[in-house]
Amino acid sequence: MSILDNRAALKAQIDKVAEVAGYLWTKGWAERNGGNITINITDWVDEGMRALPAITEPKAIGTTLPQLKGCWFYCKGTGRRMRDLARRPMENGSIIRILPDCAHYEIVADAPVAPTSELPSHLSVHNYLLAKGSPYRASLHTHPIELVALTHSKKWMEKDVATRMLWSMIPETKAFCPRGLGMVPYMLPSSVELADATIRAIDEDYDVVMWEKHGVFAVDTDVMSAFDQVDVLNKAAQIYISAKNMGFEPDGMTDAQMQELSQAFGLPK
Ligand code: 13P
Ligand code: ZN
Repeated sequence: MSILDNRAALKAQIDKVAEVAGYLWTKGWAERNGGNITINITDWVDEGMRALPAITEPKAIGTTLPQLKGCWFYCKGTGRRMRDLARRPMENGSIIRILPDCAHYEIVADAPVAPTSELPSHLSVHNYLLAKGSPYRASLHTHPIELVALTHSKKWMEKDVATRMLWSMIPETKAFCPRGLGMVPYMLPSSVELADATIRAIDEDYDVVMWEKHGVFAVDTDVMSAFDQVDVLNKAAQIYISAKNMGFEPDGMTDAQMQELSQAFGLPK
């Protein structure tokens, strides 16, 4: 028996998380329990599900998030592996509902799997997205090797320096990650400070932000699209590194070529 039985639309959303979790492992971005995914599933929760009792006591989020009243999320479990979640999403993640005080949640799922340690960042970002009226419903944190390596140099942490380089590697990067890559200086994983800094970066108009010497945090309409944005950025970083390994600094597309691209495709930057 699973909470997903006879809930095909909800199950399809969770299956998409499982599919992406498999990609993260295959990419080498999800060592051990590395990375986490949450999705806002409120639109797929029916009356029967709302009537279900919780299977855990309420737990504090660590912050108060007024937009999340009555919202439901699927969250990767803390300490759980993406490669396990790919095969068994309800044993390695759980469904939570936010309590009316907007500061606590409880688990309503098949098993009492405690949500990711990065829940403050994920839920704060979902709260921010709802406040903005954004259609984005997914947030993804992962450890893409080449993008994380870039953040070990101060030069690439400067505003839009990495974005410009990555966009200039192939036209698709700007086309499919059109807001570029925001930068968040190193902060303790799972902290509320990191959550707040992540929102500030997203609010500067980025869908993908780097956590210095740690990983990326990406948002989009669904988890597959969030994954795609990270994938195109990391591909661009790999092209840069390949050129450097061939012994030269890549030229990159010119500013004029990138401007032409923005006009042709109606890109926001
Ligand atoms: P969790 O296992 O708690 O999701 O943590 C993984 C991670 O990447 C922390 O930044
Ligand atoms: Zn991490």
